Amino acid sequence: MKIKTAEFVISNTDYKLCPAPKMAEYAFIGRSNVGKSSLINALVNHKNLAKTSGKPGKTQLINHFSINKAWYLVDLPGFGFAKISKKMRAEFHDMISEYLVNRTNLMCLFVLIDSRHKPQAIDQEFMQWLAEKGIPFVMVFTKTDKLGKVALAKNIGTYKVEMQKTWEELPQIFITSAEKKTGMQEIADFIENLNPQFKEII
Ligand code: GTP
Ligand code: MG
Repeated sequence: MKIKTAEFVISNTDYKLCPAPKMAEYAFIGRSNVGKSSLINALVNHKNLAKTSGKPGKTQLINHFSINKAWYLVDLPGFGFAKISKKMRAEFHDMISEYLVNRTNLMCLFVLIDSRHKPQAIDQEFMQWLAEKGIPFVMVFTKTDKLGKVALAKNIGTYKVEMQKTWEELPQIFITSAEKKTGMQEIADFIENLNPQFKEII
């Protein structure tokens, strides 16, 4: 698929204020600093559409982008960010979970995992929760340019083995680098294939 236009639409703290669910939607989530905003920029070939930062906790709202005027990409805040108050973390948690559970046009959630790290309980628990809620998702390993081929294969292997302990079937996996633009075509093709399945729920 060719990305012809990518436009910022609106930022919200409440899913009820998000754009009317009239187009297919794909959201990006994962721990703070995992590379969600960078991946969105790489995917649409735009350096600064989604705001990125070296410091965790940059994205704090539900950000909608309209792509080809035909579907939405959504940049979400990260979870597991330690340097905010308990109250703020609880508010973030509610904002994200309400969005995920109630957004009727959400076709698929991309769960980003830093390819350099061992499986983390917070990601595992989050994916279990998604399964319980029936929210469709895929996994995206990020920042693969920071690892050599062997280390990358080893880490992904370890991740799969860990998941196979609790999952009957593993979700689809994408291997990416926003820096090197690895895996972007695969994600764009995945979205292109899913788009026709969108049916507006009135
Ligand atoms: P929050 O909004 O804070 O939750 O973070 P985020 O998940 O949106 O991460 P963001 O895209 O802001 O990236 C965090 C840092 O990682 C930035 O310094 C990026 O430049 C860097 N980064 C993101 N993706 C890649 C990648 O593929 N390769 C490398 N080398 N660095 C990356
Ligand atoms: Mg971000």
